[in-house]
Amino acid sequence: MITFEGVTKRYPDGTVAVDDLDLEIDTGRITVLVGPSGCGKTTTLRMINRMVDATEGTIAVDGKNVRDVDPPTLRRGIGYVIQQAGLFPHRTIEDNIATVPLLLGRDKKQARTDARALMDRVGLDTAFAKRYPAQLSGGQQQRVGVARALAADPPILLMDEPFSAVDPIVRANLQDEFLRLQDELEKTIVFVTHDIDEAVKLGHRIAVFQVGGKLAQYTTPDELLDAPASDFVRDFLGGDRGIRRLRFTQELDAEVAMGGPSGPPTGSTGATPAGSAEAGER
Ligand SMILES: Nc1ncnc2c1ncn2[C@@H]1O[C@H](COP(=O)(O)OP(=O)(O)O)[C@@H](O)[C@H]1O
Ligand SMILES: [Mg+2]
Repeated sequence: MITFEGVTKRYPDGTVAVDDLDLEIDTGRITVLVGPSGCGKTTTLRMINRMVDATEGTIAVDGKNVRDVDPPTLRRGIGYVIQQAGLFPHRTIEDNIATVPLLLGRDKKQARTDARALMDRVGLDTAFAKRYPAQLSGGQQQRVGVARALAADPPILLMDEPFSAVDPIVRANLQDEFLRLQDELEKTIVFVTHDIDEAVKLGHRIAVFQVGGKLAQYTTPDELLDAPASDFVRDFLGGDRGIRRLRFTQELDAEVAMGGPSGPPTGSTGATPAGSAEAGER
């Protein structure tokens, strides 16, 4: 488990990026940090692996204060995926992924074998192994980024807007496959997005941040849509909340019926469902 207790980050210029944050992140689940630009999501994420050090408060991973663990050791157990994948442009795909097994002390041949197994795992054709990042689409590059982050088999994955730079259809595919992968892997994932739909689709729990680095609400997607804690959260969820809720409920129903994750959502008809959260608000 990852816990934040009274965590504040003040940058040297005085900006308070995160303000007195308390948060408990569940092991083996996807926790989404969502909110508008500048509300402290990235800073919160980076304090977990100490790319940024908290000014006040305590962050613990499995009960251990991250301050007491040296950053390289800490990061060995924490994968990190960013927007645009952050790949080395002059290395082939397999060598980009193999970087991590090499760092862990595998020999080159084994590292490449590992890299190909990981490509397979994230749904990338191993025919791409000898290509360079620029020769892949945005969605494919993003898969390489995920494969690389998984290479050390870390129990924790930090993902900062990993799917934001790709078009909506590719994005939906990446999200679906990410959920499928997580079903097998059961990593502890902290996932940052500014997209509430993505948050609702992926999150086991969702932390909504507002500008000033304040946690506005921390709850399940269902509860969030059902009972926004403030006007800010209600506005952030947007006007089509009733429909989103209907869709979400149908997806859940479909999952229960099929015994697994469902296909694309159906039934956003434009009508506000009777008895929805929307109706209850007036
Ligand atoms: N290195 C930095 N120095 C000063 N201010 C920063 C730095 N990094 C981020 N900030 C500020 O901290 C706030 C939160 O930033 P960030 O965590 O990147 O938000 P988000 O990821 O939600 O967009 C913003 O006001 C941002 O301008
Ligand atoms: Mg950010």
